[in-house]
Amino acid sequence: MKHEMKSKESAISQFDEGKIKSCFPALNIKKDPVHYLDSAATCQKPTCVIQSIVHCYEKQYANVHRGSYRLSEKATSAYEETRNLVARFLGGVHLHEVIFTSGTTAAINLVARTWGEENLRPGDEILLLISEHHSNIVPWQILAKKTGAVIRFVPLNENMLPDLNILENLFSEKTKLFAFAHVSNVTGMIYPVKAMVQMARKHGILTLIDGAQAVPHLPIDVHDIGCDFYCFSGHKMCGPSGIGILWGKDELLEKMPPFMGGGDMIASVTTEGSTWNKLPYKLEAGTPGIASAIGLGAAIRFLQQIDMQAALEHDQKLGTSLINALRDVPGIYLLTPGADNWVGIVSFFHKSIHPHDMAAFADARSVCIRAGHHCAQPFMNWLKIPAACRVSPYIYNDENDIREFILAFQEAEKTLCG
Ligand SMILES: Cc1ncc(COP(=O)(O)O)c(C=O)c1O
Repeated sequence: MKHEMKSKESAISQFDEGKIKSCFPALNIKKDPVHYLDSAATCQKPTCVIQSIVHCYEKQYANVHRGSYRLSEKATSAYEETRNLVARFLGGVHLHEVIFTSGTTAAINLVARTWGEENLRPGDEILLLISEHHSNIVPWQILAKKTGAVIRFVPLNENMLPDLNILENLFSEKTKLFAFAHVSNVTGMIYPVKAMVQMARKHGILTLIDGAQAVPHLPIDVHDIGCDFYCFSGHKMCGPSGIGILWGKDELLEKMPPFMGGGDMIASVTTEGSTWNKLPYKLEAGTPGIASAIGLGAAIRFLQQIDMQAALEHDQKLGTSLINALRDVPGIYLLTPGADNWVGIVSFFHKSIHPHDMAAFADARSVCIRAGHHCAQPFMNWLKIPAACRVSPYIYNDENDIREFILAFQEAEKTLCG
């Protein structure tokens, strides 16, 4: 991934959305074309990722870390190569700090069940943002119920960014963890994670960042951010589903007890008890998602070929076209302000068009969008809306996809708003 910033013009001119789209077979079915605008839920897969999975099953499939034969060694080295790629993708971290999970949800649950159960006491506090995905709320609620810890929510300001003044006032002696998204799955806003981590660190508070919506768009450097844990899912960044990553600082991971018990996570087992394998295996019980991990490696390689700064500007440009078309529509409430610190996701609520009706009108034109609470019910309640529509463009979309959605929106408006 090219990390250097480029001028807008030169970056965009090098970004060829048509060429990128041609890499995604699901978007090139002539008889059944789709305008896929739901990439924040999960994104489409390029041929190289699909082929890497086929290759794994056809040519290099065996269990990993266990077999004393060449085929297993081949599978192990392909699987471990992804750990290498992830370690570099996160800015150059230790291999043993990269834990394979089934996704962001599993990674957050892992931290809650291990670090959380070990360290939290009654009255301790966990800070979350009001805009968090349920995956970064519910595991902490379960933990709070078990330990007697208390959860506090940080509101957003008028720019849909965390209110840092309120945040500062919420930190206290009791706060043990601040967990928050890098990018909101509802608004697409990129949160100032480095500043937020610095604020927490001044108070000696650990930070966990949910990077599920950041990794498809942004270069990540966990050392530069300064956080303690960072998690993400493969399926939102062109990789397969069922694979994700927990990165944690080794001094924390070392002290954490295992999450699940089973194969590969032990050093020895007797009828009396067990001892644990070293990191990262201690936290990876059972046969892992071998092919999915290999597919994640192919996805990282794919994204590394793309100028991600140009890709981000492309996604913002598509989102801005949509915002411009919707901004002055009577009855509309745009949840997304649109700005430079934004990945192009557009969410909105229309007082006379139910989001599910909107999604059905879109579907009639083969436009895929998301309608509902976006796994962010506390955020919807805070915004005082029941649900919203979300349009999330990505590297393979073009203005035509946005135009088709706008036509669907106009049809819905004409039909339902009289
Ligand atoms: C911000 C955020 N966090 C967490 C998740 C959960 O990811 P997964 O379902 O891959 O575990 C999502 C998925 O939409 C998300 O958008």
